Amino acid sequence: MKIFLDTADKLAIAQWAVTGLIDGVTTNPTHLAKEKKSPKELVQEICTLLPQGEISVEVTEKEPDKVYAQALKIAALHQNILVKIPCHKDYYGVIEKLVNDGIKINVTLVFTVVQALFMCKLGVVYISPFVGRWDDIDAHGGDVLFEIREMIDQYNFDTQLLAASLRSVQHVHQAILAGADAATLPIAVLEQCAAHVLTDRGIAQFDADWQKLDIKQFP
Ligand code: G3P
Repeated sequence: MKIFLDTADKLAIAQWAVTGLIDGVTTNPTHLAKEKKSPKELVQEICTLLPQGEISVEVTEKEPDKVYAQALKIAALHQNILVKIPCHKDYYGVIEKLVNDGIKINVTLVFTVVQALFMCKLGVVYISPFVGRWDDIDAHGGDVLFEIREMIDQYNFDTQLLAASLRSVQHVHQAILAGADAATLPIAVLEQCAAHVLTDRGIAQFDADWQKLDIKQFP
């Protein structure tokens, strides 16, 4: 499963880039707005930080023709960019055209299996179901990951499942069990996933026992 960072925080991306764990970054207008920097420059810098990574960048235009034109411009910023487009019927035709143009598309704000199937039919690279936002309205967001996985496999689509809007370790756990092809994690969630109290306790105990030997060099 690919691990993407769900952020536009350059510092955090740089810190995690050196771990070898990160396969890319997903941004959205909210992330980019938070950074108070030219979004175009920021996107280019993020691409430089992860030269092999897949970087998703979302359109901000609303009108379909403008979305199409903007998507082409976003894709031209770097070869590793995927253009994020919301899963809305106004953009179905735009998405189809962009796929035919060879633009890699990550369809965002996907909530149902039916929406996911529609996007698979259009040949997009990723569909991004939003787990946490289902939970926000008292539904079980994780379930949709399992259902979409089943749908993709049943019809043998090439589209990959990217679990998004993950807010907890439990959400990431569900994404793994559902067989998501990728998961995008906010930095805080990634930190939580990487940490375990028993790992820390074990390291401390091994170290304490080792110190009792008072050995200066090993091996
Ligand atoms: O990747 C989409 C993600 O950023 C949305 O997350 O927590 O705002 O629902 P959230």
